[in-house]
Amino acid sequence: MSLHMSALANAHLPDEQTSAFARDVVVGLSDQPKRLSPKYFYDAAGSELFEQITRLPEYYPTRTELGILRDRGADIAAIIPEKAALIEFGAGATTKVRLLLQSCTFSAYVPVDISGEFLNAQAEALRQDFPALTVHPVTADFTTSFKLPDAIKDLPKVGFFPGSTIGNFEPHEAYRFLRSAREILGVGALMIVGVDLEKDERVLHAAYNDAAGVTARFNLNLLVRANRELGGNFDVSAFVHRAIYNREQHRIEMHLIAKKPQTVRLLGTSLHFRAGESIHTENSYKYSIERFAALARSSSWTVRSVWTDAAKMFSVQALVAEA
Ligand code: AVJ
Repeated sequence: MSLHMSALANAHLPDEQTSAFARDVVVGLSDQPKRLSPKYFYDAAGSELFEQITRLPEYYPTRTELGILRDRGADIAAIIPEKAALIEFGAGATTKVRLLLQSCTFSAYVPVDISGEFLNAQAEALRQDFPALTVHPVTADFTTSFKLPDAIKDLPKVGFFPGSTIGNFEPHEAYRFLRSAREILGVGALMIVGVDLEKDERVLHAAYNDAAGVTARFNLNLLVRANRELGGNFDVSAFVHRAIYNREQHRIEMHLIAKKPQTVRLLGTSLHFRAGESIHTENSYKYSIERFAALARSSSWTVRSVWTDAAKMFSVQALVAEA
């Protein structure tokens, strides 16, 4: 560990984000079993690949959630207090929030994201399209505590966390996130959250092992990124994508499997792989309605409404912050 860290100290790294990536790659790939965080999927190429995933016939979550937000717009609008502020935790594409803004009346929108540049461009586009809405972007890591803008202090608050991003968190991290959101939004606030549901394993397997191989490219892009940003020499063709459903833990696991024994150089460190050795790159937890309600309850939220598609593939849930 100290050896790896001194190798990092000697590397000349361009910025803070790259050095966080460098640290996490060296630490994660020195661990046993090897692991990498799914948050590093989303460089420019990875974000584009994810966009392609959302359009795959096998990948049901995005289109199902959009369908629920569209079809249940009036039901969602009915529980939103007047003049409420909408606070989005992690604001990427604005497709989902636009659906909410079309069906519900909010007086303010607060997108919270770590990438300030993207945030400000999206904020400007929303101001143009929703002139009655005041937009207050906050550049922050939404998984930690952050301060809401003073301008929305006295407004009713509605959190928004779509995309089943909560499924990427370990259960204890999901608990911590919901607790922190409850602190930030305050008693009586609402939270609208997208939660992917447990279902036939074959459907899950197909969604994460698509026939066109886009998910494989998305997963392997982590190695491409490590080569480019950290000067690694991964032979990307010597690894394969694997996604499996872990029934005991109710989660899809994504792995990159070494096809043969190999040594990779990166940031002055040698990383050894056995044939068949895995890098665990993502967990995507799937909840039953009951298990999500228990998680919400334990973190001081109560489930007020659950909206699903007819086949119960995906849910959009409204939670109320308890004292
Ligand atoms: C963005 C976390 C919702 O878990 O389904 C898609 C990411 N990984 N295909 C998911 C993902 C592989 C996705 N989330």
